[in-house]
Amino acid sequence: MSFNTVRHNYKITKQQRECLHGHKAFLVWFTGLSGSGKSTLANLVEIALHKQGLSTYVLDGDNIREGINKDLSFEPVDRKENIRRIAEISNLMLDAGVITLAAFVSPYIKDREKIKKIVGTDNFIEIFVNTSLEVCEKRDVKGLYKKARSGEIKNMTGISAPYQAPLNPGLEVVTDGQPIEKSVKTILKYIQNKLK
Ligand code: ADX
Repeated sequence: MSFNTVRHNYKITKQQRECLHGHKAFLVWFTGLSGSGKSTLANLVEIALHKQGLSTYVLDGDNIREGINKDLSFEPVDRKENIRRIAEISNLMLDAGVITLAAFVSPYIKDREKIKKIVGTDNFIEIFVNTSLEVCEKRDVKGLYKKARSGEIKNMTGISAPYQAPLNPGLEVVTDGQPIEKSVKTILKYIQNKLK
């Protein structure tokens, strides 16, 4: 769809903003089941980066769905739109020179591929938080799995809706059976060369 818009090119560039921040901007995308540990990891990684004096921001599925995406359900078509909007928001954050962390179930490979197209492959790091359904269900921090099993919640990822695991993620981390700090360290090490 086109509404006859004409792009205005502003004088200050992404590169200049990155220069001001003193580092590159890129998107770290956490995907995995609800309760897999995405938000916990994004939070700890952001704290570590912030302590290094870097500009960061976290976009989180639960939070975003209380605001800009409150009109979207968990039907596939709405999940697709959810991820598309977040990819576009991420793209703006990157243009602003900010390291962006995103924690979304994002269960469909196709939708995640689209993020790459929107922000550019070089700016995109996909992290698969590979926690089994069994463990997520045992944790059931939000009580959603219980509700899904009883039929109170429809389209619950892992129960009544699919989760398509990344085939070739940039990084795969586990949160079960090892200290969370170990995963955080692995992620920080992995993204180090993206900063320059
Ligand atoms: S996504 O699939 O569209 O990427 P998103 O990350 O925004 O999902 O939101 C997931 C969060 O919404 C979960 O962490 C969980 O707290 C909550 N939620 C509520 N209903 C569902 C559901 N049917 N499937 C998955 N998550 C749900």
